[in-house]
Amino acid sequence: MTITVSGIPQMGLGTYGRTGDDGLAAMLAAIELGYRHIDTAQSYGTEITVGRAIPRSGLKREAFFVTTKVADTNLDKASFLPSVEQSLETLQLDHVDLLLIHWPSAKDAVPFEDYMTALGEAKARGWTKRIGVSNYPIADIERAKAILGEGALSTNQVEIHPYLQSPKLTTYAKNTGLQLTAYQPLAKGRVSGEPLLKAIAEKHGVTAPAISLAFLMSQGHVVIPSSANAGRLRENLAALNVKLSEEDVATIRTLNSGERIVNPQKSPKWDD
Ligand SMILES: NC(=O)c1ccc[n+]([C@@H]2O[C@H](COP(=O)([O-])OP(=O)(O)OC[C@H]3O[C@@H](n4cnc5c(N)ncnc54)[C@H](OP(=O)(O)O)[C@@H]3O)[C@@H](O)[C@H]2O)c1
Repeated sequence: MTITVSGIPQMGLGTYGRTGDDGLAAMLAAIELGYRHIDTAQSYGTEITVGRAIPRSGLKREAFFVTTKVADTNLDKASFLPSVEQSLETLQLDHVDLLLIHWPSAKDAVPFEDYMTALGEAKARGWTKRIGVSNYPIADIERAKAILGEGALSTNQVEIHPYLQSPKLTTYAKNTGLQLTAYQPLAKGRVSGEPLLKAIAEKHGVTAPAISLAFLMSQGHVVIPSSANAGRLRENLAALNVKLSEEDVATIRTLNSGERIVNPQKSPKWDD
C-alpha cells in the first residue's frame, strides 16, 4: 500500500550503513516487501547500492521514489552541481525524485545564497523532480524561502521520534505547509524496548517500532526507518495499517523528552 503526502511516499526506507553485498541484499528484501521510497545520500556510500538494487529489482525506474542529499563538503559553487551529476551516475539514474541539502553550511562558511541557488539550478536542469533540505531550523527555512520562493521546498528531513517530537518545528511546518520527514524514526531501534509503546502495540497486534512509525505518520510526517532484516522490515511496514486512537496518541506524546541522537558540532541552533 502506498500512501503519499506532499508528493512523497509516506513510508520510506533509510539506507545508512547498507553498503556492499549485505546492504544490497537488505535493499532487495525491502523492495520485495513493497518499499519504493529509498533515502540515500552522497555521504552514506549507499548511492552505489541503490544503483545496483533498482535494476536488479526487475521493476521500472518510475516505480521508485529516490532521494539523495548533497554533502556539506560539496556545497561550494565549484563542487555542488558536479557532485549531483556524480550522484546520478553512481545511482545510474537520469534524475532523482528529491534532492536535499544534507546540512546547512556551518556558520555560512559557504554563502547560503550560493548553494540554495545551485539547488534550484539542479531542479531547473531536470536532475531532480523536487528539492528540499535536511537538518534545517526554522530561521534557515525562512532564508531559503526568500531565495527560492514560497512552496519551493518539498520537505525538511530532520530527526523525529517519540523521544524528540519537535513540537515547535512541527507546528511551524503545519502552519506553513512544509512537509517534515522523520529520520531515525525508531530512535535507532530504542523504541522496540519502550514499555509504553509495547503496551499499545499489543492492543493493535503489531510491534513497538510499528507503533512509533504509525504515531509519526499520524502527525503527518514521512518516515524513513531502516533495517537489514526482512522480518523487521515487514514489521515496520505494518505501521501503514495501524489506526491509533486519540488516547494512544496522547499517551505517546508523553514520551517526548527532547532527546537528540544526531547532534554533531556542525549542527545549527535547533528549534526544539
Ligand atoms: N538527514 C540526516 O542527517 C540523517 C541522519 C540519520 C539518518 N538519516 C536517514 O534516516 C534513516 C533511518 O535512520 P537510522 O537507520 O539511523 O535509524 P532508525 O531507522 O531509527 O533505526 C534503525 C535501527 O533500528 C533497528 N530496527 C529497525 N526495525 C526494527 C524493528 N522492527 N525492531 C527492532 N529493531 C529495529 C535496526 O536494526 P536491524 O537492522 O538489526 O533491524 C537499526 O539498528 C537512515 O538510514 C538514513 O537514511 C538521515
